[in-house]
Amino acid sequence: MMKKIVALVLVLMIGNACILPPPKQKPISLDSAWKFINKDSLAFASPDFDDSGWNKIKVNTTWDKQGYPQSLRFAWYRIKVVIPSSLKKQAALQDSLIFHLGKIDDFDQVFLNGALIGENTRSVPPHTIADNTFKDSNVSYWDVERRYALAVDDPRIRWDQANLLAVRVYNWNGPGGIFSGDLTLSMADISEYVRVNVRRNQFTFGNGQARKDIEIKNTAEAYPLDGLFTVKVENNLDTTLILEKKWAFHLKPKEKRILTFTFPRPKQSTSIWYKATFRNSRRSLYQYEGVPYLLTPPEKLQPQINGARVYGQRVDKPFLFRIPASGKRPMNFSATGLPQGLKLDAQTGIISGVAHKRGSYDVLISARNALGEDRQTLRVIIGDRIVLTPPMGWNSWNVWGLSVTQSRVYAAAKAFVDKGLVNHGWMYINIDDGWEIYGKSEEPKRKSNGEIRTNKKFPDMKQLSDAVHALGLKTGIYSSPGPLTCGGYTASYQHEAQDARTFANWGIDYLKYDLCSYRKLMNDQNNPLELLPPYQKMYKALQTVNRDIAYSICEYGLGKVWEWGAKAGGNLWRTTGDIWDDWERMASIGFKNEQAAPYAGPGGWNDPDMLVVGWLGWGDNLHYTNLTPDEQYTHVSLWALLSAPLLLGCDLTRLDDFTLNLIINDEVIAIDQDALGMQAVPVIKNKTIQVWKKKLADGALAVGIFNIGSQTTAYALDLSKLGLSRQMRVRDVWRQTDMGTVTNTFNTILPAHGVTLIKLISAGQ
Ligand code: GLA
Repeated sequence: MMKKIVALVLVLMIGNACILPPPKQKPISLDSAWKFINKDSLAFASPDFDDSGWNKIKVNTTWDKQGYPQSLRFAWYRIKVVIPSSLKKQAALQDSLIFHLGKIDDFDQVFLNGALIGENTRSVPPHTIADNTFKDSNVSYWDVERRYALAVDDPRIRWDQANLLAVRVYNWNGPGGIFSGDLTLSMADISEYVRVNVRRNQFTFGNGQARKDIEIKNTAEAYPLDGLFTVKVENNLDTTLILEKKWAFHLKPKEKRILTFTFPRPKQSTSIWYKATFRNSRRSLYQYEGVPYLLTPPEKLQPQINGARVYGQRVDKPFLFRIPASGKRPMNFSATGLPQGLKLDAQTGIISGVAHKRGSYDVLISARNALGEDRQTLRVIIGDRIVLTPPMGWNSWNVWGLSVTQSRVYAAAKAFVDKGLVNHGWMYINIDDGWEIYGKSEEPKRKSNGEIRTNKKFPDMKQLSDAVHALGLKTGIYSSPGPLTCGGYTASYQHEAQDARTFANWGIDYLKYDLCSYRKLMNDQNNPLELLPPYQKMYKALQTVNRDIAYSICEYGLGKVWEWGAKAGGNLWRTTGDIWDDWERMASIGFKNEQAAPYAGPGGWNDPDMLVVGWLGWGDNLHYTNLTPDEQYTHVSLWALLSAPLLLGCDLTRLDDFTLNLIINDEVIAIDQDALGMQAVPVIKNKTIQVWKKKLADGALAVGIFNIGSQTTAYALDLSKLGLSRQMRVRDVWRQTDMGTVTNTFNTILPAHGVTLIKLISAGQ
């Protein structure tokens, strides 16, 4: 069994005893010989146009990596290709010619011999006129493979002659152009007509069993599909085969079939490999997925006080803190030693009021229910500093994108309480972009007195934050120092002080301030001297309002923000570009925070962007995260070690048990929220393994051993690499169990992209 993680790959099938497939039809490569121009004219589509003055370009990487600016909007690619009729003659199906053009960032129109054949992932009929509307979509197609099909008798194809293929690209911003290799021209294969949807729904679990339905569909109008479908469920750690099931299928045109299988619910890393083979093709279709497995033990019914052990609020500013405590309700809270001016609601555990006297108060908190009591000391520091541990909360961006609404935000706050997240320290409910008036709208963006207006989706911001506060939670909002936000909505440029006041009047507790259009006002986007003033300006404005507003600097790590983020007043600062739910992206963002490590600490945190677990979407259409369960354990473990802000970006009303289990592990959260606030640093980094260590306030070391390779790996960690020579007790953090003691070496087995997160405690302690 191939142990490589493959999303959806077509590979050559090696023999099949009973069926003789047709000879392999060799695709024509379109990988090289492309010409490029950073201009726009429909005349470039013509086969007669002279492109001899154009530059060469690679199509396996974006144009900005080849010397062109990210700000480039339009560009054209051209290639000449002879299409031999032998291609169709050799094919089993003499049906359609397929142009595979990789991924294109963001929008594209594809022309063959001057005629449009496809646009933004869809093939178009002959005689379709090309216009400029192809770039007006609200959704980018940057991550979609382009596959354009033409019937073999389509007049746009010139068989046995030179053909001119031209691609017109429009780029929103950031990287642009054709960027993933393996561009080919081939005849449609019967296997291309099958759609296997392994994610039509999630796993269902019950009676110790996992059950899954998948759908296999023949999308062809005219051809039946015959073949064999195989499912293999395999334990990744010891490679035992848990289940192998095969279905022979015969699907009429347009027919679909649901295949169902069950197997014992795994307690450790497990993979499912799907394979479809076809009667009339040498190709097989492979898909892979991980099976969710739970590590966090079930919550105890006895009270347990969780979350940060230290909390800061400025003197004379409204105080709000909900004691995070898990356990059966009803629960009764008490707090001894609270600063004067604060009161505790004994039923909810919400502490509120205003503390006027500076000081460090060790407050003894008790949480009691019918089954017992827990007591912990919470250090409350009334002074000048806030955000003494990394913020934990929810942000609307990764789930709703610009389609965020007031009710969706409130639903998230409600879910924090209803699903018990508040009992583990989750606190902020943050609105990202999309609450303001759209920049291009006719509507006034501000009231006559200059006050910023909300759009229709947010009828009453004050009411929203009051309702969130009533739950003991805090609210966040979003703006930009530029005239417009990244989504093109109204921002704070030249209204900084007024907006800070408005946010405060609404009861906002957190501001994410995103560079966006301010970049256009800068000469050098990497120059801290240019980046600092707009952030300082808003910080000054925030200092004048009557409440604490945590300040989140978002400028994607430009100008080494970690070196000056605290000086700009930031409580956190993004160290990277945007995250999305893809292993390469998440890992590249997470594992690159090393140089920023010395700058993280109480009150100022490196922010590698939000968590991509659960149901995500960046808009109305949600999908379940594309990260495997192992990758998600890596994601949360790494973020905890990095002392990163933990901001969920998923639909909280739709939390499956795996996602919930992943985000309420108190020992993992405790590493993130550790009062010392030291960010982990790597001690071992090689091609497959990275080991990161974080010093904790109690003297223990939190250690993450990460397998960044694509094979299960046994690893022996030499403890001297961590600077340890004594006997150590080992705690399995995810499972919350003791693993005995070790002296020289700690042995572990890591699944592909997986992690072992441990705490090493001096054996004497
Ligand atoms: C930028 C930020 C994202 C999000 C969007 C909103 O891309 O990095 O986190 O806030 O803007 O438009």
